[in-house]
Amino acid sequence: TLPNDLAGETVLVTAGPTREEIDPVRYISNYSSGKMGYAIARAARLRGAKVVLVSGPSALPQPVGVERICVTSAAEMKEAVLARCDEATIIVKAAAVADYRPAHRAEHKMKKHNTDALNLELEKNPDILSELGRRKGHRTLVGFAAETRDLLENARKKLTEKNLDLIVANDITQQHAGFDVDTNVVRLLAPDGSEEILPEMSKDEVAHRLLDRILALRG
Ligand code: PMT
Repeated sequence: TLPNDLAGETVLVTAGPTREEIDPVRYISNYSSGKMGYAIARAARLRGAKVVLVSGPSALPQPVGVERICVTSAAEMKEAVLARCDEATIIVKAAAVADYRPAHRAEHKMKKHNTDALNLELEKNPDILSELGRRKGHRTLVGFAAETRDLLENARKKLTEKNLDLIVANDITQQHAGFDVDTNVVRLLAPDGSEEILPEMSKDEVAHRLLDRILALRG
């Protein structure tokens, strides 16, 4: 049986990729399936929290008892998260948000031309987590960092720069870890320099270990 230790908490979770449209038939995105974020949403719900899940495009079913808000682009995800962050006591950003989007979305399907190269101009997306870090209040703010090199250095940098309480460092070069698999290999890094190294486990288990850690932080 699970503890009801998140009763009274409102957990806002983001999951999945974002899609940045190029034209009516094409987009830029990444391999996120939503599995990690949905596991966190389910685990938090099972432990008694009220859960709001802001999800990019994902094939996963809506978790029972969870309010899901479906979005497509980073701009839409930002809007949904900012609309719901005030009521949250805990925010976990597992989504893989596209850092850039096409500077211009073509109204009609782009045609193939006779040139061999095509340049696509990109512009920066807003960083949702940094925005939340600037208006944190009493909320516990947790980010993820998916890295292919210098895992700890890059994750620590995001932890500090985004004003987070915890970051989940995700080494995506390892088998059975990261995008679109049911398991993960992560470390939980806190601003005091502490580090909890978790062995390979299911994303459901990672979710519970993460929530344990968040509760310990909240004291
Ligand atoms: O969905 P799955 O298939 O289960 O895969 C899980 C996962 C690999 C996507 C997940 O475990 C993970 O690591 N998510 C973070 C992915 C990532 O690449 O994050 P990042 O390093 O680009 O961003 C760092 C943090 O800032 C993240 O919490 C991200 O949500 C947030 N961010 C990033 C960019 C942006 N414009 N806005 C943001 O809020």
